[in-house]
Amino acid sequence: MKISILGSGYVGLCTGVGFALKNNDVICVDIDRKKVDAINSGVTIIEEAGLQEAMKSIGKKLTATTDIATAVRDSSITFVCVGTPSMEDGSIDTKYLENASREIGTSIKEKNDFHIVVIKSTVAPGVIEEKLIPLIEKSSGKKSGDGFGVCVNPEFLSEGTALTDFINPDRIVIGENDKKSGDILESLYKDFSAPIVRTDMKTAEMIKYASNTFLAAKVTMINEIGNICKKLGIDVYDVAKGIGYDKRIGNRFLNAGIGFGGSCFSKDVQALCRSAKQMGYDARILDCILDLNKNQRMRIIELLKLKLPGLHGKHVAVLGLAFKANTDDIRDSPAIDIVSELIKEGCKVSAYDPKAAKNFEKLFPGIKYAKNMKEAVENADACLILTDWSEFMSITDEDFSAMNNKIIIEGRRVLDKSRVKNFEGVCW
Ligand code: UGA
Repeated sequence: MKISILGSGYVGLCTGVGFALKNNDVICVDIDRKKVDAINSGVTIIEEAGLQEAMKSIGKKLTATTDIATAVRDSSITFVCVGTPSMEDGSIDTKYLENASREIGTSIKEKNDFHIVVIKSTVAPGVIEEKLIPLIEKSSGKKSGDGFGVCVNPEFLSEGTALTDFINPDRIVIGENDKKSGDILESLYKDFSAPIVRTDMKTAEMIKYASNTFLAAKVTMINEIGNICKKLGIDVYDVAKGIGYDKRIGNRFLNAGIGFGGSCFSKDVQALCRSAKQMGYDARILDCILDLNKNQRMRIIELLKLKLPGLHGKHVAVLGLAFKANTDDIRDSPAIDIVSELIKEGCKVSAYDPKAAKNFEKLFPGIKYAKNMKEAVENADACLILTDWSEFMSITDEDFSAMNNKIIIEGRRVLDKSRVKNFEGVCW
């Protein structure tokens, strides 16, 4: 099939590369000329495992342009993968989606063939039918289900493993208004071995929010269990192992620590919460997840204060700034709140992250960025570990030897007990 994809972030690009690997012809559209040029020369603009190799192997099956009209004209199906950032009140800003809808509509106007628009961007239930379809209808002069079709096909791609997640999905969700469009979209996924769930639009939109909310709740729940375990002297990771074998619970997303970060979980829980409030329903558990997650970040500071009273003027080393390992992404990273608090307390902060330091420096230009872990901890009074980078697993006691004081607290379970003797976990 000939596919066009709007938005070349990690979702758009991995979706494009994934469909090209499945032998489709893909054209990516982005307003950023640099991204377009990079894609056309086969170079990835984002860090995703396996993406560069995959781009090499597909060659010209994936191209890019800044011209949306040509891309829509030369394809039969358009995936929309533009961002839906949070607004001040927690609801999502749909302006990029609205612009895309108008532009797609204008391009569809010129076409004789039936064209399908597939929304991958995350939106609150009802947005596509209430806001986007009317915009496409207006600018195309055609009726949904007649001159064109619209489907929702939420993405479940994690940063860092997005391409593998795309190729090996747990499920494929298709929300549709008309059967013809749903059937065509399903046929595009014929080579994927995953259950296909077909629903109406609103249900598919809700499935995405419900998935992220459940995962955020699971992390929050194990953190709460961990906080209790800490008081009882129990290792929450042993508890997680014990409950994870229960198939009804499952063993993933049970890593306790300083809570979830990233561009999706908080944003989606907030948006769902906001949607519910607008309809007069107070979804208390959602508020609670957000609240507990914020507090969880501060638990490492509370523990630090117990071990190192009078933080003012103390030197604290921070290892790990990214919201999770294998990415340079710091959006809503727990490290942001924790470093802010250290600065507020009057600490001198030195930091090390294998990939995210440059991005962090844009927010915090005043702290010291070290070339490696050893340099970061030199003369430090305490060290906080905030990201589960695999290179931290091989840290030994010797690596901490230049510290003033050996106070080491993990916010993510990463240190190896056989290599490092005296350290503590935030909730283990
Ligand atoms: C998340 C979802 O996992 C994807 O399925 C979804 O498609 C994506 O959001 C999205 O909506 O676009 P992502 O934000 O890349 O993906 O990251 P996750 O791997 O889910 O981790 C989120 C946060 O939770 C990280 O800060 C991570 O460290 C934390 N986490 C995760 C824990 O604290 N404990 C765990 O056991 C698992």
